[in-house]
Amino acid sequence: MRRKLVAANWKMNGSFAANAAWAVPFRAPAGCDVVVCPPFVYLGQMAGLLGGSAVELGAQNLSSEKLGAFTGEVAGEMLLDCGVRWVIVGHSERRALYGETDTVVAAKTARALALGLRPIVCVGETLEEREAGRALAVVQRQIAAVLAQASVAQLAGGALAYEPVWAIGTGRTATPQQAQEVHAAIRVQLAAADAAAAVTVRILYGGSVKPSNAQELFTQPDIDGGLIGGASLVAADFAAICVAAC
Ligand code: 13P
Repeated sequence: MRRKLVAANWKMNGSFAANAAWAVPFRAPAGCDVVVCPPFVYLGQMAGLLGGSAVELGAQNLSSEKLGAFTGEVAGEMLLDCGVRWVIVGHSERRALYGETDTVVAAKTARALALGLRPIVCVGETLEEREAGRALAVVQRQIAAVLAQASVAQLAGGALAYEPVWAIGTGRTATPQQAQEVHAAIRVQLAAADAAAAVTVRILYGGSVKPSNAQELFTQPDIDGGLIGGASLVAADFAAICVAAC
């Protein structure tokens, strides 16, 4: 069985005070894996606060390059140095706002894997793409680009996250059936490359997951946990979502 994974994506939120207030009382439930991804500048603080706990540390992005002259970028080597184990790659906000193409996302995934970081690779269609009946085709294209650079077995060390863009921060969650349909299609695509490894890859759902809808999503056969934005900023809500996964 795939062990459930719940990851918090804090996006560009947090402060030293707020992070401490979140982390000090937070307890991850046993029975699932829990990852928290704060902004880069707080990774050191969070490593200290979470040290010794079951919560693992993730980053929200990494450079596709090795150390060198890349002003403003953060290398995977530096993430490892900060105690980071996981890294979100190809979030739709980075694709839409910062021009990350499928090729860039694949290169970042490969870079993370080369360093032993566990990538959480995000895919998902826009509302326009869904309404045009292209949701599966878009997701399959995004996954194919990653599979050109990484094996299914390698991806099993991290996770994939299906995050329909129209469900992110909108309060409009995909129905469990809509999400399951895409997750199942992703697994079929993975199985075409490596059937044995495909059943071990965790596919997370992200997009307006809340304590009230988490359980129904997480009990779908191909939904192996969640990537949580807004609700992860409230420790009690994130804890409740983790409990729903366990
Ligand atoms: P919300 O949970 O705020 O909709 O964000 C989802 C997301 O983008 C997680 O990466």
